This record gives sequence, C-alpha cells and structure tokens, in this order.
Amino acid sequence: MNNVRSLLGLGLATLAMASMEAGAASVRLDELDLGPMSCGWGQPRKNKSVTQKPLAIGSQAFANGVGTHAGSECWVALDGQARTFSAKVGVDAAAGSDRASVEFMLLGNDVELWRSGVCKWKEAPRDCRVSLAGITNLLLVVTDADDGSGWDHADWADAVFEFNGQPPKTFRPKFSLEEPFLLTPAAPAQPRINGPKVYGVRPGSPFLYRIPCTGQRPVTFSAQGLPEGLALDPATGIITGQVAKAGTYQATLAARNAQGQAHREFRIVVGKTLALTPPMGWNSWYIHYNRVTDKVMRQAADQMIATGMADYGYQYVNIDDCWMVKVNSKDPMIGGPTREPNGRLLSNKHFPDMKAMTDYIHAKGLKAGTYIGPGPETCAGYEASYGHEAQDARTFAEWGFDFLKYDWCSYTSKAGGNTLAHLKKPYQLMWGELLKLDRDIVFNLCQYGMGEVWKWGAEVGHCWRTTGDLGLESGGGLPGFYKIGFSNAAHWDYAKPGAWNDPDYILIGWVGNASGMGEGVPTNLTPNEQYSYMSLWSLMAAPLIFSGDMAKLDDFTLNVLCNHEVIEVDQDPLGKQALVLRRTKTEAVLAKPMEDGTWAVGLFNLGRAPSKVAVAWQEISLKGNQKVRDLWRQKDLGTFQDGFECEVPRHGVSFVRVGTIKP
Ligand code: GLA
Repeated sequence: MNNVRSLLGLGLATLAMASMEAGAASVRLDELDLGPMSCGWGQPRKNKSVTQKPLAIGSQAFANGVGTHAGSECWVALDGQARTFSAKVGVDAAAGSDRASVEFMLLGNDVELWRSGVCKWKEAPRDCRVSLAGITNLLLVVTDADDGSGWDHADWADAVFEFNGQPPKTFRPKFSLEEPFLLTPAAPAQPRINGPKVYGVRPGSPFLYRIPCTGQRPVTFSAQGLPEGLALDPATGIITGQVAKAGTYQATLAARNAQGQAHREFRIVVGKTLALTPPMGWNSWYIHYNRVTDKVMRQAADQMIATGMADYGYQYVNIDDCWMVKVNSKDPMIGGPTREPNGRLLSNKHFPDMKAMTDYIHAKGLKAGTYIGPGPETCAGYEASYGHEAQDARTFAEWGFDFLKYDWCSYTSKAGGNTLAHLKKPYQLMWGELLKLDRDIVFNLCQYGMGEVWKWGAEVGHCWRTTGDLGLESGGGLPGFYKIGFSNAAHWDYAKPGAWNDPDYILIGWVGNASGMGEGVPTNLTPNEQYSYMSLWSLMAAPLIFSGDMAKLDDFTLNVLCNHEVIEVDQDPLGKQALVLRRTKTEAVLAKPMEDGTWAVGLFNLGRAPSKVAVAWQEISLKGNQKVRDLWRQKDLGTFQDGFECEVPRHGVSFVRVGTIKP
C-alpha cells in the first residue's frame, strides 16, 4: 500500500512538473556568455573539453555542454522564476590521469543547493537536477576536491536551464570586479627611517647597509654609536666598512631634510648569524627566466632605488637560474665551455663581467644575489656546482655576491638515496664552504620542502623553501599563494632570527607565466587578494622577495609592496612566525607576536562573498580593552573589549595590530 501511494505520489509530481515545464523555455549553459566563468587552467570551452577535445565523461559522449577546469566558478543571474537546472557532470574522459578528481557544486542565493561528491577520471557521469524556484543568483562551482587541481578537467555536459521569465544571464559579481584601490598612505615629506631594527654581520666581513628612509630629498644622514670600522656617507645614507670585534652595538640612525628629522634605533650584531630579519629584495625568475642579462639586473637595481622600494628595506637584487653556460647548447650566447680549464665557473655571454655587475649594485648600497644548484645542472639545464662546491663558493665571493639560492634539481641523480642524511648532504657541504669565506653570503635552500626541511634548515642555511614553485600552483578554488602560504604557515614553530621558512616569491604586478616561461602579463590576482598575499607573507616572517617586472611597477603594486607598517610585522626583531589560530574553508586567522608585546593579526576571508571575520583576545592571550590599528590604512580603529570583528572583502584581509605599539 505504501509503495503504491508513493508511486502514485511520484507519478503525480512528475506529471505536474512536466506539465509546468511544458510552458517553460529552455537554454543551454553553452549558449550563455562564458566570459564571466573562471577556469583554473586554460579557458572554458563550449561543446568541447578544456583541452578542446569532444566532450565525454566515462564512456559517454556529449554533443553539448561546457568543458572547464577546477577551480571554476560561474555566476548566473536569474529572476526568481527560473524552474530547473540539470546537467550530467564529471571528469572529462581526456583528462588522462587517475589523479584527476573534482567536485561540482551549485549555490543558490548563497546557500548550497547540490553537490556531486568527488568525481574521478573514467567514472560515469553524475546527474544534477535542482529546482531554481525563488533563486536570483546561482553559482556553479567546480573544486579540486581538496587534492590539488592537476588534471582536473571538468565537464558540465547537457547543462540546461528551464525558465519562465527572464532568460538566465552569466555575470561577474560586483565584489569580483575590483578596481585597484590604494590603502597605503603616501609617505610624508619629513624623513622617516624604515627597515629592520636589528642587523647581523660576521666579524671582518664587508659591511654594506643603505639606510631605508622615505621623505623629500635631499636627506642628510648621521648615526651615533656605530661600531669601530664603519663609516656612514651622510649624503646617501650608505654605511660601509668592517667590524673586527664581535659584539652587539646599539646605534641610533638619524635623517634630516628641509621638512624635519627622524631617528631610529639600529642594533648591529657582529657575530655568527646573518639574516636576523627575513631577507627583502627582488629575484629575476618570474619575469626574465632564461632571458636574464647583466643589463636587466642593473636596471632592477636602478629601479629599486628609483621606485623607492629601497627606502622601505628592499635590498637584495638576485639573479635566478640561466646566468651560467648551458650544457650542450649550440646558442653562442649561452653555449660553450662551462668552466675554465682549472674548473673555475664561467658565466654566459649575457653576463660579461660579474664583478662589474655586483660593483654596480653595491655602489647603490644594494646587495647582489646569485643562484646555482648542487647537481651537475640547474633546473633549466645550465652548469651547476656538483664536484666544484668549494671553488664555486670562492668564485661567488670574489664576484661579490651576498646571497646564494641553492636549488636541488638534478642533484637527484647524484644523491644516492633519499634518507635525511642524503637530503642534507649537499646543503651541509655548501654551507661549510660559505662559512670559510671572508664575505657574508645569505644561504637560501631550495629543495621544495623535502625531508621536512623546516626541521633542520637552520643547521645549514638561513632560509628554506617549504613547498614547490608558487608560480606553478593553481591553488584549486583559491589563488595559489593561499595554498602555498597555508602550507608554509603550518611550520610556524621553526622560524627564528637567522632561520626562516620561505614560501617563495611575491608574484604580483607584471609577472611571467611560470609554466611557459612566458613574457610578463599583469597579475590576475584581485587587489584584495594582493593585500592578502603581502599580509600573509609578513605574518609568516617570510623573505619578501618580489619577482615581477621592476620596469613596470605601478602605483598599486608599489602600495602593496611598500607599506612600512606591514613590512615592520615581517621584519620584527623577535623573529616569530604567526600562529594559525583558525583555518576553515571560509576563513583563516593568523596572529604574530611582536617584540613590543603587541600582536599582528590577519583576518582572512577565504569565501566567495564579503563576510565577517573575528578574533577574540583570549585567542592571543590578551584581556580587557585593547587598541586596534589598521596596518594597511595606518589608522587607529579605537579600543575594543574582548575581541575585534569586521567585514572582510572576498579573498581579502583585515590586517591589524592589537595592543599598545611601542616606537
Ligand atoms: C626551480 C625553483 C624556482 C626557480 C627555477 C629555476 O623550479 O624552485 O624557484 O629557481 O628552478 O630553474
């Protein structure tokens, strides 16, 4: 009886729906404008897969539908009278890997209407059918099912809307149409000394420090309490010399111009440890790739001064891969013998005189960095240091380099195993050679986090990449920097002065396409995402190394890179990395204890729409009334009891400092 009744009920309902639908119009998803549909790789295709093959899921072929790639979103405006959306969904048959896995979701008026569950390659299509009654905005989502978006080719096949009133229309939501907006206030005309409050150097090593200072030029610099052996050029603010005696020297830097004057405490620690605060600078990789030349390095140094980045503490001008001779290359500019007969390393013809280049960079008060690897070849197939470690370290010192990135790559062929001892060995070897030099070289390990490098990196270097390449990370739903950033954030306990987790470069402004070593294009991160990126890196006490085009820095990019209160969080002398207080699919809260007892707190909204994010004082062991300052706007927000909550834009951040800041 029950069965009969339910069958009857079902029958009536189906009949009712069919008859109502009889009067409804229909339109296919592939007939709508797909311009607003985002796609984690490639672009959405009508009636084809993302790789432009015929649409197919499992063994079933489809004439119509949309091929996209996780993470993908598409907003559709409805008038509340649309009836149904139906589709067959799944991983496209041409994805070609068991690692492909996606999940489809529909949200109506911000509420989840349906989700597919995880779909894998070769599986049969799943049915999607939802009622759209009352819905005015519909969001079609494809996620990477939380396991990375490689091979995640996803199809909305036979996707059809049935509607009574206005036809559905795709649109870009207002909050994703962000015009660049500047938050960082312009620097005042009076001098303001920026940069780290503490600086490490080894006894007897060449000392070079350009006082980072904003304000109207000319500025006259002076200093009190500099250790013996150092001299300051009052016109440029560049301190040079060498300090013979180990010890901690408390100096006061001063700057004066027609508008006023400024002072700042500067502790010089002459001892064993370098990089007492995270290195700041620029690296050539993500814009010049194998096009890097002496000329672009010099231009980058010029630009670091001209754009004012150096006035905020950016200091290192670092070449990445592709400056050496390329093994077996026929190109006369980069081919030929890789070393002199005595084994001394050669640069390729785009770098005619390394020493002259570093002299040029140093004359501006900046530092020069280089790159090589422990294997026979670098990642891009250029000569590397295997079997020549001691000689190469000496060559780098003679050439005048101050920073070395040491990239594992082809060392796999020589490692002889992958135990911890094998993983450490090449870094121990080069570290030992660097320590013998009479020059300070900051050592950056690049081996993508193998062997939990954060646990031992401090024994053999100053900073270590914790993940794969950020430029190759699609992120799955969120921009790649979030994924890499959160992975790096988990290792907060291992960062300390002289030893930093490195989540890779700041890829904003004009920046190249990493997978194709392509020419620069403007970043596709929204302004809010860029503020989040810089905030997250500062909270993590990450090296702040920009790797976009120095020749195309615009006001917006500079306002992200050059906010002295944000940078101060990164450069805080206590050297703690932020704790992750909370992280869900929709929000993250990170908090970094500062030397003066205040906390820097980042409230991140990972959701698709603006939303409130909060921190309670008890989460950061504070009580009662606390001052809150907005770091991006450099504005006091008032005193708050028990905690702080505010509305945060989509993928954006509210970056605040809690407590009474001591100058
Ligand atoms: C690796 C590194 C990158 C870059 C390239 C150069 O992929 O992780 O940062 O240095 O090599 O080839």
